Amino acid sequence: MDEKIQVYLNKKIGNINRNIYGHFIEHLGRCIYGGIYEEGSPLSDENGFRKDVLDAIKRIRVPVLRWPGGNFASNYHWEDGIGEKEKRPRRFDTAWSAIETNHFGTHEFIKYCQIAGAEPYICLNLGTGTLDESLAWVEYCNSNRDTHFVNMRKQNGCDEPFRVKYWGIGNEIYGKWQHGYCSAAEYGEKAREFSQFIKKIDPDIKTIAVGANNPDWDLEVLKRCGHIVDYISIHIYLNPDKDNFYDIVAASSYIEERLKLLKSVIDVAGSFLSFDKEIQIAFDEWNIWRKASVETQMEEPYNLADSIFACGVFNSMHRLCNSVTMANLAQLVNVLGAISTSKDDILLTPIYWAFYLYSNYMADTFIESVVDSENFSTDFLNLKNIPYIDASATIDEKNKILCLAVINRHKDNNIQAKIDAFGGKISGNARIFELNGKTPFSFNTFEEKQNVRVIEKKPLTVDNRFSYVFPAHSTTVIQVKYE
Ligand code: AHR
Repeated sequence: MDEKIQVYLNKKIGNINRNIYGHFIEHLGRCIYGGIYEEGSPLSDENGFRKDVLDAIKRIRVPVLRWPGGNFASNYHWEDGIGEKEKRPRRFDTAWSAIETNHFGTHEFIKYCQIAGAEPYICLNLGTGTLDESLAWVEYCNSNRDTHFVNMRKQNGCDEPFRVKYWGIGNEIYGKWQHGYCSAAEYGEKAREFSQFIKKIDPDIKTIAVGANNPDWDLEVLKRCGHIVDYISIHIYLNPDKDNFYDIVAASSYIEERLKLLKSVIDVAGSFLSFDKEIQIAFDEWNIWRKASVETQMEEPYNLADSIFACGVFNSMHRLCNSVTMANLAQLVNVLGAISTSKDDILLTPIYWAFYLYSNYMADTFIESVVDSENFSTDFLNLKNIPYIDASATIDEKNKILCLAVINRHKDNNIQAKIDAFGGKISGNARIFELNGKTPFSFNTFEEKQNVRVIEKKPLTVDNRFSYVFPAHSTTVIQVKYE
C-alpha cells in the first residue's frame, strides 16, 4: 500500500495550548530531593537547585509544573514548608511512608518555576486539610491585601504575590489509597465550596476538579461544581508488556478514546446545566507505569518504544486541542521520570526526547490532515485498527512554517509516504528532526547517553507534493515554509 498524508494548510481546527507539554513533581522517592533539589551538591546552585536538571528542563521549555503531589498533596500542610529551613518540622508522610524534611516548600517551588520559566500549578490538600488552610495558602500566594498571611509572605522575603494561576482541588480523591477518599457527590460539593471561596481571594485563578476516568464519577462531580471550576482532570497510567512493541505504541489510542469520552461527559453535563463556559480537560498525570514501586523509589527505565507512545499521546492531544488544554507527565525527574539523576550525573530518557521534539519543533495552530495507512491490532486493551503512520500537522502562522509530526509505528519497516499539501504553496528546504534509536527498544544509560535522542537530518528540497521515507520505530518532524 502507498501511504499518504494530506495536509490542508488553510483548514485550521484549533490552537494547541502549550500547557499540554507540562510536567509534575511530587515529594516522592528522588523526584524533588536528589532530583531537582539537592542541598550541598557541587552540581546545585545557591538555592539548592540542581543546575544540570534545570538546564535540561529549560531545553524542553516546560510550560507548567504541578506540585506537591499526587498522593503526597492530600496530607501536606503548606505552613510546614515556609520560613527558616532549619526550623521547619520533619513530618512522616502517610501517603508514601517517608520522612518529609520540608526543605522544599512554597517559596522554593515558586522560585524554581520562575527560573525554569514554568507556570506554577499547586494541588491543594483535600485529604487531611481544611478549607481554611487552603484559603490561607491561596491568600499567602496570591493576595496583596494587608492581612496576616500576606504579611507573613513578605516577612519571608517576597513582597510581590506569586500569582499562582492554577489550583487543583485535591488529588485522586475517588481512590481508597487517598487521604480524604469519598463519594463523587461528597467531593463535588467540596470542590464547589473550595473553588467558590478561592476565587473570592483571586478571581483570576483557574481551578481543576478531580476527575476519575469514569463517566459516573465525572458527571456527578460536574453537576455539582461544573459552574465554578475551569477544568476536570483525568489520570491514566498504562502497563503494556515491555517486550511487546506494538502493545506499547498502540497504547496512546486508548488514551485518545478516554479523553474523548471525558469530553462527551463534559458536553452531557453542560447540556442540562448550561454552563456559561467550556470546561477544559487537564490530563494532569499520565505515563507508562510498569514495575515501579516504593521499594524501587518509583523509578522506571524507559525505552524508545515508550517515547513513540508519548509522541502518540501528543498527536492525540493535538486532535483534541479544543478540549485538552493542559497535561502533566507523571513525573519529571527520577519518579517515573523523563529525566534520571545520579549524585554526579544526569540522564535524559527517551520520553524526555519526545518532549524535546514536540515542545521545540511543533507549532501552535492545529490544521487538518488526513492519513491513509495500513493498520495493526493488539490484544493489549483490545486495540484495533491502529495506523502504522500517525500524523499531526501544525502551522506557525506568524512565520508561515508548516510543522508536521509523523510517527512510524512499524517495528521493522521503513515506510515511504507521499505527502500532499493543499491550500497554500510549499517550497524550499525542509528541516527534518528525527527521534530514533538503533533498535525498537533502545534506551539510554549513564554510560551510553545518546542511544536515543533527537537529531537534525540533512535538509530536503520539497514542494507541494513530495515523498519521504519514515524510518522504522521513529518520529519525524518536518518543518517547511509555506505561502
Ligand atoms: O505519580 C505517582 C502517583 O500516581 C501519584 O502520587 C498519584 O496521584 C497517582 O496515583
